[in-house]
Amino acid sequence: MENLLDKVVSLCKRRGFIFPGSEIYGGLANSWDYGPLGHQLKQNLKKAWWKFFVQERDDMVPLDTAIIMNPKVWEASGHLENFSDKLVECKKCHHRFRIDHLLEAKTIEPKYDKEQPDKELSEIECPDCGGNLTEPKDFNLMFKTFLGTNEDTSTTAYLRPETAAGMFVNFKNVLNTTRRRLPFGIAQIGKNFRNEITPGNFIFRTREFEIGEFEYFINPKDWEKTFEMWLGEIKRWWQDIMQINMDNLVWHELKGDDLAFYSKRTLDIEYKYPFGVKELHGIAYRTDHDLTRHQEFSKADLSYVDPETNEKFIPHVIEPTFGIDRMLLVSLLEAYCEEDLPAVASAKEGDGETETRVVMKFPKHLAPIQVAILPLSKKEELSGVAKQIASDLRKNFLVDYDETQSIGKRYRRQDEIGTPYCVTVDFDSLEDKKVTVRDRDTMVQERIEISELKNYLLSKF
Ligand code: GAP
Repeated sequence: MENLLDKVVSLCKRRGFIFPGSEIYGGLANSWDYGPLGHQLKQNLKKAWWKFFVQERDDMVPLDTAIIMNPKVWEASGHLENFSDKLVECKKCHHRFRIDHLLEAKTIEPKYDKEQPDKELSEIECPDCGGNLTEPKDFNLMFKTFLGTNEDTSTTAYLRPETAAGMFVNFKNVLNTTRRRLPFGIAQIGKNFRNEITPGNFIFRTREFEIGEFEYFINPKDWEKTFEMWLGEIKRWWQDIMQINMDNLVWHELKGDDLAFYSKRTLDIEYKYPFGVKELHGIAYRTDHDLTRHQEFSKADLSYVDPETNEKFIPHVIEPTFGIDRMLLVSLLEAYCEEDLPAVASAKEGDGETETRVVMKFPKHLAPIQVAILPLSKKEELSGVAKQIASDLRKNFLVDYDETQSIGKRYRRQDEIGTPYCVTVDFDSLEDKKVTVRDRDTMVQERIEISELKNYLLSKF
């Protein structure tokens, strides 16, 4: 669809999914706030992710670790040394750019070689003013802060750039307290911070974002079959739970220099965004690299003894990682639909003219509002019944109540935020004790007994 991203961004602002951050102060570049519907959608996504990958399995345990950790953690993980992007600066306007983005714009494959910087770079000018660019320099992406009142190197700490480290440093704690045997996983969802040089494309790349990821600890002899098992589960997640068009995913096996030296297999799961095919999330077999490094730097014993064979070894790990905000972006892009229908919600109504119905076709269980209660009149005799129905349903569903404007306009408003079911209460309801339930996707209406409404709706989710 043409201009899909613009349409989604505009709908998000208009309907309260996502607002530009700090807007009344003129905003803050690339920061976004989740509004009432966006927050609920995110909650639903995280809940579904947690249920699928953690709650429904017998081999996963949850964790919630600190955002600020001992700085030595980032020495061991390699983030202090290597978590950087290569930057060039314009000698004239002093704007800074990521080399890979400049080269990508010219469809040149970046080489990342310190000794021999990309020679094509000398031919690239500053995209803002046409000035000459400096030689590339490393720029660490971790956000620095200070603990306490003194600001010096002894108090320097970092906001975590990923949640994984918290799970590695607690490996022994979890093992000892839960008495788990391999294979098992530790999962967490949490905020992360990266001082991205070129954030952008709405919530695709921001400086603070959430990750849901898990470390699945294994005996190395099992890595191939375990990797396949997780790939299968990831496919099931996108197909059955997120219900996306699977043709929009690209399964990119990393090869050669793109594969980290310690990894035997890594896949980037990419998505066909309106701005190009780019990473959505990943899965990596990281061998015993992380626990070995943390053992080396902390001097703690992070080995595992197999209770059956008495074999002692550092567990290996398979790490599936999901950017929650990218998942949310994909759910918005996948849900957005426009349909031409006979006019009901505008001045054209009844003229035989058409109008565009915008519908967010979220999977029903992810929709931020599940049921809308719409009385046909604001009169007390109807609104009283309708409010009671809304109040009863709130115990089981996310419910909205709306009694303003024509029913056609109210249906369209609910379609636009993806509400799967609208329940209309009319004057007949007072006599026959029934209401009309309208399905968002088919727009088919059914008359249902009020006493059966809860069970009817429960059967639909
Ligand atoms: N522990 C592995 C790890 O952190 P990553 O590929 O650096 O891997 C994980 O990040 C996921 O977080 C990415 O696949 C992506 O979905 C999301 N992500 C990364 N940087 C992001 C950013 N600046 N804004 C939004 N999401 C981001």
